[in-house]
Amino acid sequence: MADNRPIGVFDSGLGGLTVVKELLNALPDEDIVYFGDTDRVPYGTKSKETIRKFARQDEAFLLSKNVKLIVAACGTVSSVASDIGNQLPVPYVEVVSHAGKAAAMATKNGKIGVIGTNATINSGEHRRYILEYLPTAEVYCQSCTLFVPLVETGWVDENDPVVYETVKKYLTPLMEAQVDTLILGCTHYPVLSAAIKRVMGEKVTLINAGISTAEAVKKALAENGLLNQSGQKATCEYFVSDITPSFSKIAALLLGKAPQESSVQQVDIEKI
Ligand code: DGL
Repeated sequence: MADNRPIGVFDSGLGGLTVVKELLNALPDEDIVYFGDTDRVPYGTKSKETIRKFARQDEAFLLSKNVKLIVAACGTVSSVASDIGNQLPVPYVEVVSHAGKAAAMATKNGKIGVIGTNATINSGEHRRYILEYLPTAEVYCQSCTLFVPLVETGWVDENDPVVYETVKKYLTPLMEAQVDTLILGCTHYPVLSAAIKRVMGEKVTLINAGISTAEAVKKALAENGLLNQSGQKATCEYFVSDITPSFSKIAALLLGKAPQESSVQQVDIEKI
């Protein structure tokens, strides 16, 4: 059995493109429809009710595009609205559980750090999954509110004093706790990896949820007989709720290449 419908991926903004990058590597034959809620980003500082309402709208939009599987490429949505995702009429993959398992497998000293948005850290979901896989783990959590605005502004260079000092301020407690593994619990954070390593030390293992999530998507497609076997060149369509002036620059940073202009469209997500 094969299925040529696209995979739907969404995030509060452009951070989910770090997951798309890993999906393109792991599943080069799959078409992708991406939605980034660039008009309403960030989600991580909003109330649980608002994040859940936004998640429902984002998922409804992707379903209207006839997707065969939905990826919540957002740590915040994955943490507070996965029960909604699990009721969708198509398979749903989130980014938290796979990261928790990967960290539990990677740690040597049993000390794991988690960084994410306020909503993600307050949910305690990463801690719950880590302890499920490694009950003896010591888990240290830290919300890093300024990381998303830094990334959405394109400020990620580890040699930029503003970037370095911001990262240092948030991560010093985790460094002092001597975590040997750190979950990047927000999909915006992988592009800050160099700055994070500079603060935490080269030896710390960074868990990029996009990599384990792409593997989970591959498995879910195979198990449900949904892999695309048409042999045609895969396409990527990008929808955003606002095409901001810096869109191309930030998208290129997160995706590793600029999306083709013709593949980007604006949608009114409130009207879906
Ligand atoms: N990429 C989103 C996440 O993983 C960013 C959060 C936000 O919009 O605040 O949580």
